[in-house]
Amino acid sequence: MISRRCLKLASSDIREIFNPSSEGTINLGIGEPDFTTPRHIVEAAKRALDEGKTHYTPNNGIYELREEICNRVKVDYNLDVHPENVIITCGASEGLMLSLMSLVDRGDEVIVTDPAFLSYRNLIHLCEGRPVPVKLEEDFSLDLEKVKESITDKTKCIVINTPANPTGKVMSKEEIKGLSDIAEDYNVIIISDEVYDKILYQGRHYSPMRYTENCIVVNGFSKTYAMTGWRIGYLYVSEGLNSRLNIIDHMIKIHQYSFACATSFAQYGALAALRGDQSCVYEMVEEFRRRRDLMVKGLRDVFKLYPPEGAFYIFPNTEEYGSGEDVVNRLMERGILAVPGIAFGEGGRYHIRLSYATKYQYIERAVEIIRETFLEGC
Ligand SMILES: Cc1ncc(COP(=O)(O)O)c(C=O)c1O
Repeated sequence: MISRRCLKLASSDIREIFNPSSEGTINLGIGEPDFTTPRHIVEAAKRALDEGKTHYTPNNGIYELREEICNRVKVDYNLDVHPENVIITCGASEGLMLSLMSLVDRGDEVIVTDPAFLSYRNLIHLCEGRPVPVKLEEDFSLDLEKVKESITDKTKCIVINTPANPTGKVMSKEEIKGLSDIAEDYNVIIISDEVYDKILYQGRHYSPMRYTENCIVVNGFSKTYAMTGWRIGYLYVSEGLNSRLNIIDHMIKIHQYSFACATSFAQYGALAALRGDQSCVYEMVEEFRRRRDLMVKGLRDVFKLYPPEGAFYIFPNTEEYGSGEDVVNRLMERGILAVPGIAFGEGGRYHIRLSYATKYQYIERAVEIIRETFLEGC
């Protein structure tokens, strides 16, 4: 009875891991900021409710929010995006879904990095496409030659994510430029998931949209403003891509028949997030940096690791002690929850993902326990 499309989807390994979580465990598996949404954003949404902004909004979202997103990407990345080429979505998750559903037909191929955020390959299956994994290098960089070799006449898109979940890697300007050239040369579309663009500890964020029109940018408010439960995200495309494919209209059809619009008052909260003082973002990022430093310092003689450059995850190599799953099980016995790297693809088999989106003192304690477990052969 159940559709083949649905049967192909894996249930989230991450959720399965957390089902047995009990009191007193330190949860380093979480993929969301532990901060509450800044006050002025909450107040703006409450005001919107009081003012009766409780109706459907235009399918593509309120104009002011789309306009503010365009202003922001102009200031931050010098991109000229028109509000008509922006859609406000129910989280970046919906932005990814609209992008893939509007492009991928049965049997089409989509290149994804291995490891990568696990939604990508499942959403590709949902579209009846075929995920084509490209294994990342040891330092989590992307070998562009391998990308080229993976392209066939069935390749429609390449999904990238910088800064990345689960590795914390930030793609360099050269990598982004090189990938954009590939997108141009082979006429494939880059779906660029930039949800962690503001959670950056070194270097700069580069978007492929700077270098190619063959690009859809997906972003959201969940990570930058600690708004995971609000379900507000957005996507945008260039004028060039839209005039070629009319892709925004096609995405709007899917959005209209599935979600109609993103939640009205949450859109006003998101507007306040963009228009308001950004110091809340800098403060959260500074706190993430402090926790990252603590983890890197405490774990670098336990595991082989690359210090994360962005996002809030570290992805140590566990080879010395067994597979990521072995290590996660040992940690679970000591009251620490982590995610085995295999959840993000075969390339993560000998890794674990630890999130530092939890309190400093919990991380301090977790680092102590991990050191005892692996360095003292506990
Ligand atoms: C790389 C990546 N993209 C997208 C999402 C989904 O974000 P949203 O809450 O905006 O749907 C996540 C959430 O963990 C993520 O890590």
